Amino acid sequence: MTTTGCRAHALAPPAPRELSRSRALTAALLAVVAGLAWLLGSAQPAAAHAELVATTPSSGTTLDRAPEQVVLQFSEPVRLVPDGIRLVGADGTPRAMVATARGEQVTAEVPADATGTLVVSWRVVSGDSHPVSGALVVTVGASTGPVLQQPVELAGSDRLLQGVGVAATALQHLAGMTLAGLVLFGAVVARRHPSGTAPRRLLVALAAAASLGVLAGAAVTGLRISGGGLAAVTSPADWLPLVPAPTLATVGATLAGGWLVVALHGDQPSRRRRRAALAAGAVTVVAPVLSGHTVTVEPRWLGVAADAVHLAVGATWLGGLVGLVLLVRRSLPGAGGVRDGVALARVTARFSALAGWSVLALGVSGVTLAALVLPGWSALLGTGYGRSLVVKLSLVAVVLGVASWNRQLLVPRVRRAPDAPAAWSAFRRLMLVEVALLVAVLLATGALTSLDPGGGRDSATPATTAAAPTPAAPPTAPTPAAEDHAGGHDGHGPAGRTLAVRRTLADGGELTGSISPVLVGTNTLRFEVRDADGRLLRPEQPPTVRVRLDSRDLGPLSTTATAEDGGRWRADLDLPLGGEWTVEVAVRTSTFSEPVASFAVIAV
Ligand code: HEM
Repeated sequence: MTTTGCRAHALAPPAPRELSRSRALTAALLAVVAGLAWLLGSAQPAAAHAELVATTPSSGTTLDRAPEQVVLQFSEPVRLVPDGIRLVGADGTPRAMVATARGEQVTAEVPADATGTLVVSWRVVSGDSHPVSGALVVTVGASTGPVLQQPVELAGSDRLLQGVGVAATALQHLAGMTLAGLVLFGAVVARRHPSGTAPRRLLVALAAAASLGVLAGAAVTGLRISGGGLAAVTSPADWLPLVPAPTLATVGATLAGGWLVVALHGDQPSRRRRRAALAAGAVTVVAPVLSGHTVTVEPRWLGVAADAVHLAVGATWLGGLVGLVLLVRRSLPGAGGVRDGVALARVTARFSALAGWSVLALGVSGVTLAALVLPGWSALLGTGYGRSLVVKLSLVAVVLGVASWNRQLLVPRVRRAPDAPAAWSAFRRLMLVEVALLVAVLLATGALTSLDPGGGRDSATPATTAAAPTPAAPPTAPTPAAEDHAGGHDGHGPAGRTLAVRRTLADGGELTGSISPVLVGTNTLRFEVRDADGRLLRPEQPPTVRVRLDSRDLGPLSTTATAEDGGRWRADLDLPLGGEWTVEVAVRTSTFSEPVASFAVIAV
């Protein structure tokens, strides 16, 4: 219940101090937006996942005799996984190579009897615990010609594993941030309110959910590194030892912090206990920093600091919202009235101010992270990572709209009439909308943290996610065109064909062309690109063509197309094994856009 004096205070227009505080916040927001635009503009390319920068011998080389070793040079230190470096010879059977990793360099020993057309396929783990893979082709002595294989079905389990990983990360963030935010809300924002402490049952549920999320995420990391799909989860001996130490550290910190918060919970906790719970909550919430993308960026201290601040202020906002929703619910015992409305209005005002500064800090830290992690502006629309970030920012814009509606209209309303249940109910409903939108933001973040910021393909990332799919294009192999080659492309074996390719690009343009002879060995892709109005398009740089054989975990093998007459392009693609190959053509149509046309061909 409220006193007359308090009601007079609640009814008063905003005090000059509050107005100037709100103006300061707006000015700070504008300054931050300008600063962030500058930061993004001047951002240096960041270290994403490790990339292969050179090999000795280089791919495509023909040698008189087998080299003693193959050296792979990466852009950042990498770690090996068992059987990660394999040699596929003329019989198509992969053999594990003895390999050592020293910093950015991996050296693999080539068996002395290796001869003919050889594929060295590699899979290593980047500093941020993400697996990356690729392959190179070397011929020793005379080419043994194509390696014939029966086509193999594509495994869809990678896509499922990716989805489970995104859901697990989102659950870990959601539960960990809410848990830590609730502790902060109870200890700082609602500390004098008799019902400010979150119920123990809720804290237990959140600690359990964060534990489940982080453990499932670690399992997905191990499975991705092992190369086994989701089905391999039942053989933990195969993937458990592969879970990297930083991921284990994140698991340990999340579990320890979360369950310590539960252990320290009490109705009337002492100041020391409260502080300990706050520290434990902070450990849970910043635990992902130990194994995320930010451990590989430069300067590392800035990446780690921005990430920690981002997580902590995100928790302040999300957990605070949940805390306030619960408090409002408990203060509305029935249709009759509001229990201690003035105290509730005070807590609301305190949270509203804190949330404003949290949003500001989220924006600053978030854009700092983007500037450090993204390799450049063009990655924002040209990569799966960039597009996930755009989705996240769009959701953040909507949640900010809802939050500012709440702050400008409903917070003053409940402060003016703290005893009116209808005002509090409307306020609570809008806060629930804010919470739901933040959950969507966290789902988009889950996708963000599992993709390669550089746009490369994670070894467990399906092409359609990582490499700008062409949504309008049907997921079928190209249809055979009328023209058929007589005989195999090396004069024997199965007959070659020319397959027509037609793919709509994400920006409305179209790629048309053909690939032949669709046999194991060298194939030629010829194509042209037209814009949405049907005009021949001149890409800003020669298109890149990547091929992968997912069923054998081979690739991608990359090549740059060369210009031919009449604005057409040609790329010679080496398909060293039979099977269903995914071909991706990345066309830079503008500084900000690099749509990818993707199609499958079955080489026999
Ligand atoms: C202006 C708004 C925002 C921007 C520009 C932004 C940007 C980013 C970026 C670039 C990352 C790095 C992802 C990576 O590791 O590759 C990130 C991570 C993250 N963001 Fe945001 N974000 C924003 C708002 C939010 C909001 C509103 C929330 C939720 C309350 C949130 C929660 C997170 C979480 C949980 C992570 C993961 C951190 C980790 O795993 O280390 N972000 N954000």
